[in-house]
Amino acid sequence: MDCTIFTNHHLFMKTKLFFLSAAVIGTLSSCLSDKVDSELMSYSKEELLEIQKHLNLPEGVDDYTLNLPKNLSSFPIQVNNKQATLGRVLFYDKRLSSNKEVNCATCHLPEKAFTDGEQFSQGVAEERTSRNTLALGSFPSFNAYYGFGGTRMFWDNRASSVMEQSAETMKNPVEMGNTDLGEVADELLQERFYQILFDKAFHNEGNMSNEDKMLTALQAFVSSIGCYQTRYDYALTKSDDKPESDFTKYGFTKEENLGKQLFNDNCASCHNLGAGFATTIVAANNGLDLNYSDEGISAITNQSTDEGQFKVPMLRNIELTGPYMHDGRFKTLEAVIEHYNSGVKSHPNLHPNLKNSVGNPKKLNLTEEEKQAMVAFLKTLTDKESLALGRYSDPFKH
Ligand code: HEC
Ligand code: HEC
Repeated sequence: MDCTIFTNHHLFMKTKLFFLSAAVIGTLSSCLSDKVDSELMSYSKEELLEIQKHLNLPEGVDDYTLNLPKNLSSFPIQVNNKQATLGRVLFYDKRLSSNKEVNCATCHLPEKAFTDGEQFSQGVAEERTSRNTLALGSFPSFNAYYGFGGTRMFWDNRASSVMEQSAETMKNPVEMGNTDLGEVADELLQERFYQILFDKAFHNEGNMSNEDKMLTALQAFVSSIGCYQTRYDYALTKSDDKPESDFTKYGFTKEENLGKQLFNDNCASCHNLGAGFATTIVAANNGLDLNYSDEGISAITNQSTDEGQFKVPMLRNIELTGPYMHDGRFKTLEAVIEHYNSGVKSHPNLHPNLKNSVGNPKKLNLTEEEKQAMVAFLKTLTDKESLALGRYSDPFKH
């Protein structure tokens, strides 16, 4: 979005805002707030003192701009830095849950690429979640992956945005257990530091409810998370975005390069690692079961052809996000590879990419060495450095 034409006419546009449609107002006011943002980069002394009583936040505002590799550079992710800053605080605040003991990071820990290492997760209830926590460590990939406007959340893709996902999670009786999100937001705003942070993040959005501000800020933070400093991205960029080329020239071992080849041949048709890889498939049945106890997308659509279909997850940081699959059934990457090698079930909805020429589940017949090579390749998709960035960490002084 190009804001420059608007900022020149800043005051003029402001008086005209009333006459424009809601969608256009959204666009314009975010342009206007960009302009004002730069004038309000830092807090007053009093504000900073108040904030730093409770939070480890910098004097200025953290820059959440991502440095994307070339193959993804046509998908710029713009987040509002002040909204992301507020979102970071909310993400780590336990007051977002009914018993004040659970925050988003209870299940989404940065050092585990924003998963929790559990098969199923513990929120406010004794009962655990019915699905494995999804990683957030490569979030903008989803924009690249599904295309703009098409990003959908959860294993069954039922939420259309992070705002919708966050609202659902906060109200889920097993996860965060709230009934009225407006009340949650109003309660937070009793706190002086939240008044300051909300005001900085939304000074031009007088009509937005506190609940929507809270959800918008969470969305900004979650959307800012990205892990693109991987050895794979480095080699792909060096190769001029040719995933099929010899990556031993760009730092891969022979084993990793063999794994990449096998991945390109058998996996990349579904797991898109960026624009350099083949077709994009949003959801699929990957033959885990003949009878699924969790029906996946068909529970939403009531279409039997959707049974056992789940989101095709991004594999960035996959080394850190086990256990694997929607129900966390596989503890290790070796077990995942063995599934694709020999364990794919002949479900009626099994995706064609996992079938052989006569329509049966494909057997890959990989040697031990090849299986290990695939695991080694998957580990080139790890970016611990980005996960450790201060701007993603818990800001609370405990
Ligand atoms: C009790 C554990 C728990 C808590 C707390 C929790 N989540 Fe999650 N999160 C999950 C699970 C489990 C899933 C997958 C659920 C599903 O697909 O049905 C998930 C999915 C997501 C997704 C979807 C990712 C994708 O790729 O589709 C996002 C985004 C997310 N969570 C963000 C948050 C935010 C923001 C918060 C705090 C407001 C939060 N989560 C709190 C467990 C949790
Ligand atoms: C037909 C499309 C398709 C192909 C081909 C495919 N996958 Fe998957 N993959 C999926 C789907 C769908 C899921 C999630 C399934 C579920 O949880 O029910 C998945 C899940 C995974 C997971 C677990 C991710 C997580 O976060 O838990 C890994 C790892 C994985 N696949 C690796 C591979 C590898 C390696 C190959 C090649 C040998 C491959 N996949 C081939 C569709 C595919």
